[in-house]
Amino acid sequence: MASESLSAQSLHQTVLYHETITSLRPSSPGKYVDATLGAGGHAIGILKTSSPEGVLLGLDLDAGAIKFARKRLKKYKHRAILQKASFADMTGQVKRIGWHSFNGIIFDLGMSSMQVDTAVRGFSFLKNGPLDMRFDQTQEVKAADLINKIKEDELARIIHEYGEEPKARKIAKSICCARPLHSTLELTELIKDVYRGHRGHNNPATRTFQAIRIAVNEELLSLQSGIEQAINLLEKGGRIAVISFHSLEDRIVKQMFLKESKDCLCPPEQLLCTCKHKAQLKILTKHPIIPFKEEITQNPRARSAKLRVAEKIV
Ligand SMILES: C[S@@+](CC[C@H](N)C(=O)[O-])C[C@H]1O[C@@H](n2cnc3c(N)ncnc32)[C@H](O)[C@@H]1O
Repeated sequence: MASESLSAQSLHQTVLYHETITSLRPSSPGKYVDATLGAGGHAIGILKTSSPEGVLLGLDLDAGAIKFARKRLKKYKHRAILQKASFADMTGQVKRIGWHSFNGIIFDLGMSSMQVDTAVRGFSFLKNGPLDMRFDQTQEVKAADLINKIKEDELARIIHEYGEEPKARKIAKSICCARPLHSTLELTELIKDVYRGHRGHNNPATRTFQAIRIAVNEELLSLQSGIEQAINLLEKGGRIAVISFHSLEDRIVKQMFLKESKDCLCPPEQLLCTCKHKAQLKILTKHPIIPFKEEITQNPRARSAKLRVAEKIV
């Protein structure tokens, strides 16, 4: 299990590739950020379209993804600058390479299929592996720490809030009775037991695994912070594109875009504006862009993808 590597797994299929690149409209000599580099699929699209002088900063928390993408983007040489870092530290990373702003940014959230397929990373409820789920393998807190150490109430809250799981209390109770858990399949089986006798479309472990992963990686906090920084760093006319895979992420993106597209945030009953908030964005996707049937047939992981795009107007 430990000898499995990212490159040994099937290549991640980039979701909503054409829709994202068409929305971002990369051009030469623009500056772009891929905040979630993964296997470099969107990055390649940006580099190709912004040829010959467009440059790209690619970030990923996963050292394995950076190593993999570095090989894949080799031919773009100095035009691709890749860094193992969180998009929650975007301002620092952009400054570090001497940029002050950029013309476009893509966030393609969640995990890559390379991560899910690598059992030892602990993301999959179908493959046996340790309870890990960290994007950044140097981070201290792993899934096992949450599952085995936190109080039942807190565990139930996480599973309920981040997994939107109706049986969160029962699952948390059953985890706490069976502690310590060591492997992903132990957790999957335990959730299946809670659901025994119920029929459903998806594996009932989907929601709990999502919840634990979000909590381990503090994904929603990072997303909020990353988008805020990205909006501040975009040049006038620059575009931000975000692909999300579940309703919690999509809600954050939608609300942040909405807030930054308004001139005033005062309560509606207040006659005079005191907040002095000024719109920075124009929303380009009133409704999110979703994949065509063909893409979903080819790549089932795309089925819940939603792309939202906005343009900086100041
Ligand atoms: C869906 S994949 C991106 C796939 C990529 N767009 C492609 O086409 O190959 C998401 C990536 O985001 C990374 N990631 C998740 N949270 C991150 C964060 N806060 N900062 C940087 N990268 C992050 C994950 O490690 C994963 O490699």
